[in-house]
Amino acid sequence: MKCKTCGQKATVNMRHHKLALCSQHYLEWVPEQTARFIKKYWMFGPDERVLVAVSGGKDSLSLWDILHRLGYQADGLYLGLGIDEGIGYSDESHRLTEKFASERGLKLHVVDIEKEYGSSIPMLAQKSRRGQGRPCSVCGVAKRHEMNRIARDLGYDVLATGHNLDDEVAVLFANTISWSADLLRRQEPVLRESDGLARKVKPLCRFGEKEMTAYALLRGIEYIYEECPFSVGSTSIYYKELLNQLEHERPGAKLAYYVKFLEAKKDGLFTPATAQDFVLTECPQCGQPTSGDGLCSFCKIIKKAG
Ligand code: AMP
Ligand code: FES
Ligand code: ZN
Ligand code: ZN
Repeated sequence: MKCKTCGQKATVNMRHHKLALCSQHYLEWVPEQTARFIKKYWMFGPDERVLVAVSGGKDSLSLWDILHRLGYQADGLYLGLGIDEGIGYSDESHRLTEKFASERGLKLHVVDIEKEYGSSIPMLAQKSRRGQGRPCSVCGVAKRHEMNRIARDLGYDVLATGHNLDDEVAVLFANTISWSADLLRRQEPVLRESDGLARKVKPLCRFGEKEMTAYALLRGIEYIYEECPFSVGSTSIYYKELLNQLEHERPGAKLAYYVKFLEAKKDGLFTPATAQDFVLTECPQCGQPTSGDGLCSFCKIIKKAG
């Protein structure tokens, strides 16, 4: 297999794009494509300040690397979740994130949930008795809440996460199986800012897991290989495996599923939600928008845990 650009031996072969590239041209292609998606989906402009949520994993560290190379003003945010399980998951991911930032002279904000709220994520999950022994749902609520709060408090224009195509397709599959119209309506590469909510973007949403692994490895980014220890046996991993079987038989199926979904929505697959669907009130505790008429989900967890 030869690189399409220079004819040298290819290192990465993307069957679904019918494209093979050598290391050098692959390392150029990924940022070029990212820049194209940022423009195509109107994510942010060159003068806007971006806060990249970095977990220490390959996707978010690669995203930070790419945005920095493309010349965007991108700072990092690491949330300390207090997960000691596995190899000391949180400490190790924190260490690698700090290392990445200091080696490149990038600015990293670190917020520790336990210092901020008195309990780590596993403690909050236990005390609030949510998630049937798994802290993942509490963790998801807390991460969303804190990312939004911090992006707004620090005056960033946009919050970027490292969600890749496999993440997006697994969520799409879950939401399609249950026909969760509200969630499907909101599944977009960009969620525009609104009262109390920061703009959220996923610039890597069209790169698969393998493409991002290849990028991180070829770029020499040191990232945490371990998945979150609580994700073992999760539904989302099961869906990812199913979708990989499909992809194996039909290269390109994942990308088509996602891109055609976005196109179908643009063509009116879902009637636009009425204003009624989006009535948000202010959480009396933290002031962030919530769909209920009382405390937001995060403040409910904190109250129950307290
Ligand atoms: P996950 O929810 O673990 O699939 O991660 C999705 C995205 O959320 C990552 O690509 C990061 O952008 C962000 N993220 C996950 N964990 C953290 C963390 N501890 N601190 C900051 N951002 C995170
Ligand atoms: Fe939050 Fe796994 S990353 S529970
Ligand atoms: Zn080449
Ligand atoms: Zn609240």
